[in-house]
Amino acid sequence: MLLLQIVRCPWFLISVLVPCYCSLQTGFSKLQRGHRLDRKLIQSFPGLSFLDCVIECLVTPRCKSVNYCKGANFCELNYENKTTAANKYMDNAGFVYSEKEHWPKELAGACSNSTCEINQTCKHKRYSEDKFFECVLSDCGIPDQKGINLSSIKREDAIGLHRRIHGSCADGYSQSGSGRLNCQSNGKWKYNIVCEDIDECKNDPCLNRATCTNILGSFTCTCDAGWTGIICNGVLPNIAEGKPAKQSSTQSDYNATYAVDGNRGTNHLVDKCTVTFNGDTNPWWRVDLQAVYSIKSVRILNRGIDKYGDVSDRLRDVTVTVGLTGSDVNTPCGFFAGPGTASQLVVIDCPTSTQGRYVKISKTTEALTLCEVDVFGVPV
Ligand SMILES: *[C@@H]1O[C@H](CO)[C@@H](O)[C@H](O)[C@H]1NC(C)=O
Ligand SMILES: *[C@@H]1O[C@H](CO)[C@@H](O)[C@H](O)[C@H]1NC(C)=O
Ligand SMILES: *[C@@H]1O[C@H](CO)[C@@H](O)[C@H](O)[C@H]1NC(C)=O
Ligand SMILES: *[C@@H]1O[C@H](CO)[C@@H](O)[C@H](O)[C@H]1NC(C)=O
Ligand SMILES: *[C@@H]1O[C@H](CO)[C@@H](O)[C@H](O)[C@H]1NC(C)=O
Repeated sequence: MLLLQIVRCPWFLISVLVPCYCSLQTGFSKLQRGHRLDRKLIQSFPGLSFLDCVIECLVTPRCKSVNYCKGANFCELNYENKTTAANKYMDNAGFVYSEKEHWPKELAGACSNSTCEINQTCKHKRYSEDKFFECVLSDCGIPDQKGINLSSIKREDAIGLHRRIHGSCADGYSQSGSGRLNCQSNGKWKYNIVCEDIDECKNDPCLNRATCTNILGSFTCTCDAGWTGIICNGVLPNIAEGKPAKQSSTQSDYNATYAVDGNRGTNHLVDKCTVTFNGDTNPWWRVDLQAVYSIKSVRILNRGIDKYGDVSDRLRDVTVTVGLTGSDVNTPCGFFAGPGTASQLVVIDCPTSTQGRYVKISKTTEALTLCEVDVFGVPV
């Protein structure tokens, strides 16, 4: 392969090439000697002078920069420059790298005013003394087949006519066919690689009862209350625990604090849960989170079976609201119609932008009993 021979070509003094072009000094002064841009080739040409190489780039709309090797008079046109493909800009002795925009476009003659398409190159028409030009196909474009990954491209690969490149399927896609794409003379790629999206959700990658959604090349998990992280394996802190709580009335000594005491037992007599006063027909319970949070969800741990039997169905028609001040806790978070069951962990998800410092749980009938209330959210 020609390229292998030219990599070690000797150093040269480019300015002796065209001493008569005074106006070209900007282009020459900005040359990057000993560098090249790797694996972004449109086309390459052996046997071209440096100036012809620059002109070839100027007449090709897709070209952004050139690599040139004097030893072999070898010219490479790139479809990126060292800003747009910084990680492909590398040291390479014997090469010179130059940006298209450092050269006066007049160098292209009649073609400097051409209206060629991005996949074309401008050619001066013969016998017309630089006054006329025509646009001819130059390349097949940068492959954008679904799921294709061009990281496996080889150094000599190019997107120009009659060239070829090597691709593979991106992570999250399964590949059939070879990764070779050939650019035909009609400007269309010929290939048989097909990248099929893999349904990652089949393997249940999301943990802790999260919901998995397959997307192209990947998946997303929607975490259940209390969980966080890409696969929902991180525990969200319960921001209600230990915070000051109040309730509308208190039966016996079953005060509001018992819903945030960290005791997750549900035997009301042993573990103690909150209970509002018998006859309070508008009971509510409220916690002060002591800072404003974006509230994601609220969980209520219902009472279990105890010596009074099973009265867990009293948890019904429960409204959860959020507010910025203790006197105005009216932003809706969610509703639980119930009836609850013994020791049930009721999860109420808030709409996405529910913000507040206070969380209130209320209902309009009989006693409100809460064994524990968890609140999950992120600081605002
Ligand atoms: C590189 O290409 C980009 C996009 O075409 C262009 O904005 C930029 O001016 C070019 N040159 C440099 C040196 O960044
Ligand atoms: C390109 O167009 C400009 C104005 O439209 C004109 O002044 C210039 O001479 C043209 N250049 C060539 C090489 O035809
Ligand atoms: C593309 O392939 C490279 C190496 O072959 C790999 O490191 C990278 O993660 C792949 N990118 C995607 C989006 O699949
Ligand atoms: C060349 O690009 C133009 C527009 O950019 C497009 O309409 C045309 O189909 C392309 N030609 C080929 C052969 O892909
Ligand atoms: C609730 O009762 C416990 C235990 O008696 C007490 O420590 C706590 O301060 C009380 N909380 C409220 C809000 O009265």
